[in-house]
Amino acid sequence: MLNWDNPLSTELTDIEKPAAEPQSLAASYAASEVLSGKAFDGDSLWNRGVALPEADAAPIVDRLDEQVVDPVVDLAETTPVEDLAGVAADKVAEQALQGIERDQTEAQEALAPVMASDKRVINGVADVNQLAPFKYPWAWEYFLNANKNHWTPLDINMAQDVQDYQHNLNDNERHVYENVLAYLTTSDILAMRNIGLAVMEKMTAPELQIYQARQVYEEALHTWTYQHCIETIGLDQSEIYNRYRVVPAIHGKIKLANKRLDSVMRSDMDLRDPKNLNDFVMAYIFFAAIFEGCWFYNGFTPIFSLQRRGLMKGTAEQLQYIMRDEVMHASFGIRVVKQIILENNVTLDPQAIRDMWDESEKAEIAYAHHILKNPILGYSAEDHIEQFRFIANRRARQLGLEEPYPNAQNRTPWLDEQANMKKEKNFFETRVTEYQTGGALDWG
Ligand SMILES: [Fe+2]
Ligand SMILES: [Fe+2]
Repeated sequence: MLNWDNPLSTELTDIEKPAAEPQSLAASYAASEVLSGKAFDGDSLWNRGVALPEADAAPIVDRLDEQVVDPVVDLAETTPVEDLAGVAADKVAEQALQGIERDQTEAQEALAPVMASDKRVINGVADVNQLAPFKYPWAWEYFLNANKNHWTPLDINMAQDVQDYQHNLNDNERHVYENVLAYLTTSDILAMRNIGLAVMEKMTAPELQIYQARQVYEEALHTWTYQHCIETIGLDQSEIYNRYRVVPAIHGKIKLANKRLDSVMRSDMDLRDPKNLNDFVMAYIFFAAIFEGCWFYNGFTPIFSLQRRGLMKGTAEQLQYIMRDEVMHASFGIRVVKQIILENNVTLDPQAIRDMWDESEKAEIAYAHHILKNPILGYSAEDHIEQFRFIANRRARQLGLEEPYPNAQNRTPWLDEQANMKKEKNFFETRVTEYQTGGALDWG
């Protein structure tokens, strides 16, 4: 049983402990201030709630004559140690009174209400701590719907997957399985960092940030899920997690994502600057429409093709839950970026968009030829590549852009059904609890 007052040990290990314990808390604080060159101002200990025993105070007062001259220091020098407490208390009371007067003045200045209509996706001047009324009620709906797709990887029985991996997959299928996991797990860390560190902080409407906070959690949950699969199957973790570094075809996609996303992962990025704004919009389009909308969406397909033959059903069900999240991430991101374009009159450069599709397709082709260098039953590299193009067209339409691959064919018409797992679940019976709440949503 967990102890919720102290669920995990708070004891430091030997490595974490400082080399020497200070003699006392008061002496430690005072010594650190004196040694760091700051003037010891007499009341700093009181502000920290530290009592000043006489034994600790005496050596401190001895050192005060080395300090920069300060009225309080002067006071300390001329005041007996036993009176220091009373003097400091009076000073604290005086400062508290000044603080209250200052707060009252600031409160009078901050009374103007903000209107929902003042909100903007970025560069807004409304109050980011005031959730409602909503300017973007759809963002709140995304948050509510996201909470209907909730699971943990521990809910799903993986026992048959261990058996399948060891005895029922051939070498080509094991190669597919391992490489897909290696790619996905790296991608989800990257997704978590991008939403949490590059995107969320630039939003100026709290209803957008609320959903993105949920998204950050979901990306972490996805990473846990892959780790759970890797651990349960018994794969070599060091080898799997390094694969994106040493396999050029996997590295190519991650490198491209880093190239497009790293430039906007800066907290000091001023989005009122047109160049910065354009960079941010292009990065967001790449992230929502390609990284999540195509690469993730299509990234699960090789495992689903195994699932359709009754193999690796536990892993596939885990990925079905993830796919639901990713569909929402992509769709939310596309909506947000369209709103940014609208509010800021951004004009997209058609050639820059074309280049983005082309380099993403090139990376996907290399990846497909790596994971499926030998086709598996019912799925080939050509299927994977064509499916990328087909889904890319869908994302372009959602963005209001022209289709990049007008003649692309839907090679896996069963893929969209895969996101609606209600039917699949009862068929595969990998989980005993019935999934309750997501059936009415359009997950496409
Ligand atoms: Fe994810
Ligand atoms: Fe995502």
